[in-house]
Amino acid sequence: MPDSTIVPNDLSSFWMPFTANRQFKKNPRILASADRMHYKTPEGREILDGTAGLWCVNAGHKRPKIVEAIQRQAEELDFAPTFQMGHPKAFELANRLNNLAPDGLDHVMFTNSGSESVETALKTAIAYHRAKGEGQRFRLIGRERGYHGVNFGGISVGGIVANRKMFGTMLAGVDHMRHTHDPQRNAFSKGQPEHGVEFAEDLERILALHDPSTVAAVIVEPVSGSTGVLVPPKGYLKRLREICDKHNILLIFDEVITGYGRLGAPFAAQYFDVIPDMIVSAKGLTNGVLPMGAVYVKNHIHDAFMHGPEHLIEFFHGYTYSGHPMACAAALGTLDTYEEEGLLTRASELADYWESSIHSLKGHPHVIDIRNIGLVGAIELETIPGEPTKRAMNAMVKAFEKGLLIRTTGDIIALSPPLIIEKSEIDQIFETVSGVLKDLD
Ligand SMILES: Cc1ncc(COP(=O)(O)O)c(C=O)c1O
Repeated sequence: MPDSTIVPNDLSSFWMPFTANRQFKKNPRILASADRMHYKTPEGREILDGTAGLWCVNAGHKRPKIVEAIQRQAEELDFAPTFQMGHPKAFELANRLNNLAPDGLDHVMFTNSGSESVETALKTAIAYHRAKGEGQRFRLIGRERGYHGVNFGGISVGGIVANRKMFGTMLAGVDHMRHTHDPQRNAFSKGQPEHGVEFAEDLERILALHDPSTVAAVIVEPVSGSTGVLVPPKGYLKRLREICDKHNILLIFDEVITGYGRLGAPFAAQYFDVIPDMIVSAKGLTNGVLPMGAVYVKNHIHDAFMHGPEHLIEFFHGYTYSGHPMACAAALGTLDTYEEEGLLTRASELADYWESSIHSLKGHPHVIDIRNIGLVGAIELETIPGEPTKRAMNAMVKAFEKGLLIRTTGDIIALSPPLIIEKSEIDQIFETVSGVLKDLD
């Protein structure tokens, strides 16, 4: 029986984000509750979560340690400022995260989302160079097809056309490297593609144009998620690191998706053995339960600000809710869950099974590429001529009808289940997607 308290009766007021509002409201897909690997609709239909919510519920839903931590925290301390004041959990969390991050990134700033983490990192990069007496380093380099959230800094360095074209001139002093997608040579690659290390040289081309001494930072997603799971070619990230080192440019990894175990290591930095100067994170930090982001910063960046009279604020940046006690509690409960269940490395145990399962869809109708790494994958569909996104959108709707949550971007199906997934549930995902593809126009 539908529960009248959770069935919405008027959908018009909520202008939904990144949603085809008119289509959705004619045929809504409502998720009313969740437990471990499944959502439930208001009618009680189970939906297997193939996307960890929105790439964030890495430990699965309704995990007791997280629920209890939030309940306790609400009783103990609901809010405390972190401007000129502190509370214990923010420091405890920062120290715990320190142990997770690669060596040398021993300082953490807290935010409330991936977008805010991106802004924080970009501002820190520019301010760092200025603090060192190199204020001429103000340029930021992103990459085509990059996604770095929706704030002005993030869309400026981002490279997804639809996210940029409506918003005017954005930040000045930004340029973009070419993306690494090369289906001619790399379609149906398993894991990292063989071809494309040379795409990193595009950074040298841009630096030659602007002069490297004007550039503050390069920001990339180690694996581009929202643009359709673009896995970096072998050697590419290492080469970016070398070029940044050569020119004293900071390298920022946006690990909002890859952070907290998605690839089989705590961060992609460790997975690829390429250590950036800052790591941008959010999502899996609290298992998606409360909004929170974290930016990990190398010690020399932090230390560059720690000068001058001690009564002065060193960095004029932060949010009312930076290090919110409730979010800290959720993150600590999340870390406990990850640690107790070995979830930050579990993707590496399942990666081979995941890879062979997703690639078994090669040859299905409309499939023009399949990509995977860790516990993330994408199935790219041929676009219906003149109707981009429609085929994948239809696939999403059909999958939902068949009890599976998938995500689409353009004509690409993206999959990133909670890291607690069992092999039988991986089978269920791909059997369902197989059926959906066979049914699609
Ligand atoms: C790589 C990356 N950066 C930033 C963001 C923005 O995060 P949020 O939506 O929490 O602002 C996302 C969200 O998907 C992301 O994937």
